[in-house]
Formats: sequence, structure tokens, C-alpha cells
Amino acid sequence: MQSSEIRQKFLTFFEARGHTIVSSSSLIPDDPSVLLTTAGMQQFKKYFTGELDPVKDFGSKNTVSIQKSFRTSDIDEVGDESHLTFFEMLGNFSFGGYWKKEAIQYAYDFITKEMGLKIDYVTIFEGESNVPADEESEKIWRALDPNIVIKRFGRADNFWGPTGNEGPCGPTTEIYVNGIEIWNIVFNQYYQKTDKTLEPLKTPGIDTGMGLERLAMVAQNLPTIFETDIFSSLVALLPQEFGMRTKRIVADHARAIVFLISDGVRPSNKEAGYILRRLVRRVIALGRLEGGMLRFPAVLSAVVRLYKPFYPALNEENILSVFEEERGKFEKTLTVGIKELARVDTIDAKAAFKLFESYGLPYEIIKEVGGVRAATLTRESFDEEFKRHQEISRAGNTGKFGGHGIYLKTGEVTVKDESELTKVTRLHTATHLMHAALREVLGPEVKQNGSDITVERTRFDFMFPRKLTDEEIKKVEALVNEAVKNDLPVTCVEMPKREAEKTGALFFFRERYPEKVKVYYMGKTMEDAFSKEFCGGPHVTHTGEVGEFKIVKQESVGANMRRIRAVIN
Ligand code: SER
Repeated sequence: MQSSEIRQKFLTFFEARGHTIVSSSSLIPDDPSVLLTTAGMQQFKKYFTGELDPVKDFGSKNTVSIQKSFRTSDIDEVGDESHLTFFEMLGNFSFGGYWKKEAIQYAYDFITKEMGLKIDYVTIFEGESNVPADEESEKIWRALDPNIVIKRFGRADNFWGPTGNEGPCGPTTEIYVNGIEIWNIVFNQYYQKTDKTLEPLKTPGIDTGMGLERLAMVAQNLPTIFETDIFSSLVALLPQEFGMRTKRIVADHARAIVFLISDGVRPSNKEAGYILRRLVRRVIALGRLEGGMLRFPAVLSAVVRLYKPFYPALNEENILSVFEEERGKFEKTLTVGIKELARVDTIDAKAAFKLFESYGLPYEIIKEVGGVRAATLTRESFDEEFKRHQEISRAGNTGKFGGHGIYLKTGEVTVKDESELTKVTRLHTATHLMHAALREVLGPEVKQNGSDITVERTRFDFMFPRKLTDEEIKKVEALVNEAVKNDLPVTCVEMPKREAEKTGALFFFRERYPEKVKVYYMGKTMEDAFSKEFCGGPHVTHTGEVGEFKIVKQESVGANMRRIRAVIN
């Protein structure tokens, strides 16, 4: 079944069941708290909350859409079988029209009857202290198929939202086919406020999302999305000699670049513009490494041809000209940088970093073009140099470093030298990430009661009524390590206390804060930050510097109080 047929089937199926077809909204969302549109429900947020009336706007309480979506968190995963930056999300929505029974029935019928697929298993929410297990969905699934396999998972897997720093959210049920998750059905029952507490929504709603590319992959029974009809014509344009990973990255980035430019994003050094710049520069660098054989504009044109029937506004000329302009800028620095590189006899990590800093030469280019002169250069040594440099510049900025004591919010920590200072600073950032992850996994009742950091470990005390399960510990570790891997920028802003409280930043309830406070947030923007807390610092500049995070011990330290010790490598 071709992808165009899947699109049509999906829209027709839901239209026949009382849904109004709504076009995709832009990749640049209305909602300023998120960088790019990540889900179909975003354009409907105000219908879920009751601020807008769906019947007035759509003539129905139910809608269906195919939404352009973008997940920046997956940029570095692209190259494997199934990760993408840009993708299209099929979704049906209801704002007080129908509830679990119909939503599950529709999904079941669409997958098994319309698509003729076999469901491996489904998942439901296992419940947590203030949200019960979703037994209703379990019963509905069972009634549809007495033999269906139903698995229960916690918040990390089966609770969705909100997008941004507040919004509708709720438990989910997910459908797995050929071993991969293909459909996420969200029961929007709550509104999560900026302080992470949940309030019941007046009218519960349905929000579902299914990636078109993944659905095509299972429907066409292929091992990777890149072999589906969506990608095969793009991949076919690339030179045979290209490695598999390169082909996938180029194909993914081509689509992403086309749709970002078309929705008005322009290369720059911040926010969505920076994402676009990164994609363009990566493609150009890869193209050079592959011997200059990449005719990337032809791939962009092919994307436009492929999608024009569904997105008539795609403007090939405009897209190519934005790309060419950015290419021009980057190639100029690349050329100067490569000339400079030719002059260096031995390209060690230090020399490589200098080339990176002065000319923007990416590591891959330096290593490749440097040849034997760069024989000793490794990714690790380059990263190491990068970190060292950040520390030096930070020391210069604050004047505080290089001393023997630093003051964290939990007290003075004495360090012997620069390396101990670095370690404590990394552990301090790790503590913030852990705090955010604990709340994500266990819920907002987690409240910090104290923490203590030494060169070896961080110790964190918090109010929570029971022992954490092994699975919860693993989830907390995974969330922290994911934040580390995503290398989120760490930013400090100073603002009046009252304003800071409104941002939803966490604070230590035992402490008295001055009228003006510092808020450290870890993420692209304060609104969609993974962690934000009142804090005096110091912290690393990017979460990637924290390194691998591991919880080594948990214990009870009194009624309702837990203590966790964690280390970093
Ligand atoms: N909002 C949910 C998701 O993006 C379902 O559409 O997965």
C-alpha cells in the first residue's frame, strides 16, 4: 500500500465517522513555549481547554489531520532504521465528542480492517499515586479481542504531554505492530499547570498520533523507513558509493530543510534558525567528505516534487535560494579553514579545536582532510579539548574559579584544584537534572528536602512516600542520560523573585530567597526546558559535560523521605 493511499484511507475513514478534515498547521507553532511543532494536537490546544469552540470553527467536535511535525531531540539518532527529524503525523481528535470506547474501536478497526495489519500488543497506563491505572481501556481492548496482549507501563511510556510548560495531558494507550510502536492514543483528562500539578479538564478529549512513515514501513513490510515509497526515490538519487548512514541522513535532512524553509524558518544562530543551520551545514560537510559527489539541490527539488500534491505552497525556487545562500556562507569559511588546515603539520586535538573555533570546521572534516597529519586525533580528544576550553573561558568570566571553595545552595564545598572543581560543578548540574527526572517519573509530589555534593557523588533528599522500583530508578537514569546526550545549553537568568516563581522553576522550599533571584534552566528555551530551578550556580555550560549518570544507592531517611546517591563518569 503506497503512502498516498494510506493518507487518503486515514482521512476518509475518520471523515466517514463524523470528523472534519483540518489542514496541517505550520512547523512554527502559535504556542511560543515550543520551538517547533512536535505533534498534531498542538494546533488544537485551545479546543481541549474549552477556550475555543470546535463546533463553531469546524462544524464538529471531532477533527482529523495530517500534521507536519519535527522532533529536534532525534537529530543525532537519524541514520538508524526508524528515526527522523521531520515527519508527518496522522491524528484524529475529539474535544468532548467521544471518549475511550470509540477512540480505541476506531484505532482497532483502522489497523486491523482498513490496513489489514496484525497488532502485536497494546500498552496501557499502570497508574501512579494521583492518577489511577487505566482499567477502562484494558476492558475495551479485551472486549474487542479477548486474546490481545496488554502490557502496563508508567509515566515515561504511557502518559503524554503537556507540550511546552503547561497544557492538556493524560494517560495513553499505544499500539505495537511488527515490534514498533505505531499509534499513540492520548486521553486528555488533565491540565498540567506550570508547577506540574494536574487539574481535571472540564471536558476530556482525544488526541491520537501515528507517524505516516512508520505506518508505511509496517504496511509495506520493510525493515527500515528509508525503503518505503516515501524515501526510496530520494535515496535513489544519491550516489551508490555513499554509506548507508550518510544516505539516510541526507534523505532525512532534505525533507526537514524543505519544510523548515517553506514554513518561514531562516538559518541563524538561535532557536529554529539554528536547527536549520545545523542541518544544512551537516549535509554540506557530509557532501564534501563523500568526495563532492552530492548534488544536494537536486534532492531538495525531488522532495518538493514528491510533496507538492499534498502541500501546494512548497516553493522550489525559494527553498533553493535560501539553501544556496547558507551554503555560500558556510563554504567560504570552510575554504579558508581548509587552507589553514593545510598549513598545520601535526593536527592534534588542540590544533583541531583551534580550526573549529576560528573557521567552524567540523571534526569530521578536520579528521578526513587532515589525513595522516591527523592520525592521532580522535573524537574523544577533540571533545576533551572542547570542554577544557569551555572551562577556561568560564573561569575567566566569573573570576570565582581557581579558588579553593565554591558555594552551592547546600553549602560550601572545598576543592583542591581545577579538576575537582570541574567534577563538583558537573555533579551539581547532574543534581538538577536528577531532580527534574525524579519529578517526571514519580510526579510533582517529589519535593527536594536537601542535597549535598562532594567530589565523589551527589546526595539528594526528597519527600516521597515509598521505595522506588528498579524500573523507576532506571527511568530516572535514562532521562538524565538522555538530557546529557542531548547536550542542552545551560542558561542562567536573573529576575525578580515573583516573576521567577511564575516560570514554574523549582525552588528549595526551606530556603529564603532574595527579591532578585537567578534561575538556571537546561534546554533551548526557558519554557520547554528539561530542568529549571532557582540556584546560585555554578553549573556547566552544556549538559553534555555532565557525562554518564548513575544512581548507586537509595535509602529511607525518615517517614516520607528518601535519599539517593548518584555518581557521574
Ligand atoms: N500527542 C501525542 C503524540 O504526539 C498523540 O498525538 O504522540
